[in-house]
Amino acid sequence: MARVIGGVATSHVPAVGAAIDNGRQEEPYWAPYFEKIEPAREWMAAARPDVCLVVYNDHASAFSLQVIPTFALGVAPEFPPADEGYGPRRVPVADGHPEMAWHLAESLILDEFDITIVNEMTIDHGCTVPLSIFYGQPDAWPCKVIPLCVNVIQYPPPTGHRCHELGKAIRRALDAYPGDERVVVFGTGGMSHQLQGERAGLVNLEFDQRFTDRLINDPETQAKVPHAEYLRDAGTEGIELVMWLAMRGALDPEVRTAYRMHHVPTSNTSNGLLVLENA
Ligand code: DHB
Ligand code: FE
Repeated sequence: MARVIGGVATSHVPAVGAAIDNGRQEEPYWAPYFEKIEPAREWMAAARPDVCLVVYNDHASAFSLQVIPTFALGVAPEFPPADEGYGPRRVPVADGHPEMAWHLAESLILDEFDITIVNEMTIDHGCTVPLSIFYGQPDAWPCKVIPLCVNVIQYPPPTGHRCHELGKAIRRALDAYPGDERVVVFGTGGMSHQLQGERAGLVNLEFDQRFTDRLINDPETQAKVPHAEYLRDAGTEGIELVMWLAMRGALDPEVRTAYRMHHVPTSNTSNGLLVLENA
């Protein structure tokens, strides 16, 4: 049985990745944010998971708009960083865990989640920025990475409820895994933000606070919130938050908050981070 030792969630603002890559963490704009993520890095350094299962969204990098899988699981032995227009980020190639990933694919599909199996894919800022946030700049990521991609780019994305149920199915799969790996599940994206149109720059701290409270204490209620509410209150890209529900579903019903932080400004996004452990 693989053991889920925690669930973490974080925004995946590309400018955070650029600040890390270009050594700008001490600059006045960035220093307050990077100070606040230090306890999350300490938690991860102490937890030392064997595997990080990262639920994230691709931003038309690995998947063009020609093919848009709702859920796509990376089963490859390695995942290079994507070229998002400025060349690939100077971060390590992520080593996959094909054995566990194929077990997840089998378990999830037979559990009636119709996952797209991906034998070859790159990972964009949706996945690499959360890894950098929790691990900094190592020569190699100190864990295997299993990327699980969720479509939140093209309407219709899966519901929050579906993502929460997917998380529960991930947990069932890991509970049934023959190995004894220690796993941290990532939910990424969010929080409130809108990148284009009249409401570009929208931030709604009240929404973010309420979402986080409910995610921790009453995820079943949060899972019922419809897309329109995310779009209205948290902006068009706020819909990325449904991926935090997948992380939450993989944890026990009762959790303990090991760390929680929120920081504005970082680029256009209300930047939240959460570290949960099974109670
Ligand atoms: C920003 C946030 C995102 O989630 C993203 O995918 C791209 C940009 C931003 O805040 O700049
Ligand atoms: Fe995004």
